[in-house]
Amino acid sequence: MMTYGVEKIESAIHHEIQERMALCETLRERAYYKTGSISEAAAVYLRLLCDQFKPATIIEIGTFIGTSTMAMESCPSVGHIYTCDKDNDCLASSTTITCFPKKTSTQMLTQLLEWKVTAEVFFFDGRIQGVDLAAILRLSAPFAIYAFDDYEGHEKGVVNVEMLKPYLKDYTLIRPPASVGALESKTSIALLMPKELV
Ligand SMILES: C[S@@+](CC[C@H](N)C(=O)[O-])C[C@H]1O[C@@H](n2cnc3c(N)ncnc32)[C@H](O)[C@@H]1O
Repeated sequence: MMTYGVEKIESAIHHEIQERMALCETLRERAYYKTGSISEAAAVYLRLLCDQFKPATIIEIGTFIGTSTMAMESCPSVGHIYTCDKDNDCLASSTTITCFPKKTSTQMLTQLLEWKVTAEVFFFDGRIQGVDLAAILRLSAPFAIYAFDDYEGHEKGVVNVEMLKPYLKDYTLIRPPASVGALESKTSIALLMPKELV
């Protein structure tokens, strides 16, 4: 079962995330559209989610400086991450990360359909477009997990969940945990998780 509240974080994982976050921060000056990145608690939570469910392929909307991308990529099971950002080109592609700089989610998802990609985990940190919904469902492996940042108030995470949830009948919403280990920062990542995995 998914860990809702993370009790303890291995120090090696914590340090690795901190190092990667520091590297990503150096990319901020490259941004055309300067916006927020995920918190340390959110980065650790994403890493632990990947450790638990061991996705081979991840699709992300909203790269920015790559904090979330690099947190997920730190998980050994992750083979490839596809990520797009309509405004920015801060993060470079690598053997395990294919960036779609200055490309919309719709442009990336259309390309991934052509490449016949399927993903076990999706991370949404940008705004899903209505036209993206069918593509997301077609790109989803069986029992795919969907993670949404900014799940609070009327923010984009709530809007994104409301867009996708009607198409995921056998899924349960898992709200953000109250805390992640002893970290001071908070995460606002919610999950839509297949009931079989909860
Ligand atoms: C909050 S930031 C992402 C932060 C990033 N996940 C990180 O950890 O550094 C959101 C980014 O998503 C981009 N974005 C929003 N909606 C998008 C869409 N539909 N397609 C592509 N990019 C989008 C924005 O331009 C912005 O740069």
